[in-house]
Amino acid sequence: MDRQAIIQWLRETEPNRLSELWRLADDLRRREVGEQVHLRGLIEFSNYCRRNCGYCGLRIDNREVERYRMCESEILGCAEQARSFGYGTVVLQSGEDCGFAADWLARIIERIKQTTGLAVTLSLGERAEADLRTWKAAGADRYLLRFETANPQLFEHIHPPVGGEKSDRIQLLRTLRELGYEIGSGVMIGIPGQTFEDLAVDLETFRELNLDMIGVGPFIPHQATPLHAEFMAAQDRPEQVPNTEAMTYKAIALARLLCPRANIPSTTALATLNKATGRELGLQRGANVVMPNLTPPEYRAMYEIYPAKACIAETAEQCHGCMKRRILQLGRKLGVGPGHSPNFRAPHLAEQSTASAWPPA
Ligand code: 5AD
Ligand code: SF4
Ligand code: FES
Repeated sequence: MDRQAIIQWLRETEPNRLSELWRLADDLRRREVGEQVHLRGLIEFSNYCRRNCGYCGLRIDNREVERYRMCESEILGCAEQARSFGYGTVVLQSGEDCGFAADWLARIIERIKQTTGLAVTLSLGERAEADLRTWKAAGADRYLLRFETANPQLFEHIHPPVGGEKSDRIQLLRTLRELGYEIGSGVMIGIPGQTFEDLAVDLETFRELNLDMIGVGPFIPHQATPLHAEFMAAQDRPEQVPNTEAMTYKAIALARLLCPRANIPSTTALATLNKATGRELGLQRGANVVMPNLTPPEYRAMYEIYPAKACIAETAEQCHGCMKRRILQLGRKLGVGPGHSPNFRAPHLAEQSTASAWPPA
């Protein structure tokens, strides 16, 4: 599929043609990654952030946010809960928090691996290579870092450099891969200034990077950020990608077609646009992963990347029950085992079935 074909799909509005896109993505998902929906337990362990991203409610200039960092025993408690729910993975997510030592987190990763055996995914923003190495050695399996947009001007505009240091997330993703991480990335759909051509290039970049995981969700404007006003101003431009539910499904379906074996979540941002059936429709249009929230209730509301985030008032138990019910109602299966990307597993390791070593002791 070339760029023009991608753009044509992104601009498609005819219902029968769109049904065809959903069917192609769903068929390929079934064939390449099967009926299992993998559950990744999300632990938002710190909302401190040194950055000032123009889109994010946790940006350093937002003084309205009360900041928190969970302690080791709280994080280990969440990981234990993930194990008891039967999840294969925990995702440790934070802002670019420079208030903890790399060794502190390394010890937590080691403990999670020792006590639960779960796969550990990190989502901590841009970090020093030495720290990424330390966490890999401690047992971390995967790293999520969205490049947000492949357009360098747009990226710099929405993601101002810290201390004059330019970010190169694409390069950092390549470094992560060399360090042995499974790598995940993604973009927001409908950032003000994002054109159809931009989004098509983003999708091509997923393919080029040979990503193991791809997360896409709608951009949701947050009042306390500069992109809120830009969003309002951008809406009547013909080239502006809308931040709609439909556009998000198109991006999920196209990501599946371009990267058949990637793990693709049906994201919380999508569920935020359509709380009733957004997650389900994502899973039926290319996605094969969900990320139930394990963050303790007292911290959830403080992790407000964007407003009206789904699951903000629920407990881990409630999200667990909700997610399980939704997956089974679709006629899909609950994921068993760590759910590594079949894309990542080297061919010579293919017979070492991860399922046979499951559940961990
Ligand atoms: N709307 C939607 N997604 C957002 N993110 C950050 N701010 C917003 C927003 N306002 C996404 C970014 C980031 C991920 C953790 O959350 O893509 O990488
Ligand atoms: Fe910080 Fe991440 Fe939000 Fe940017 S998107 S301000 S790095 S938490
Ligand atoms: Fe959290 Fe449904 S997954 S309430």
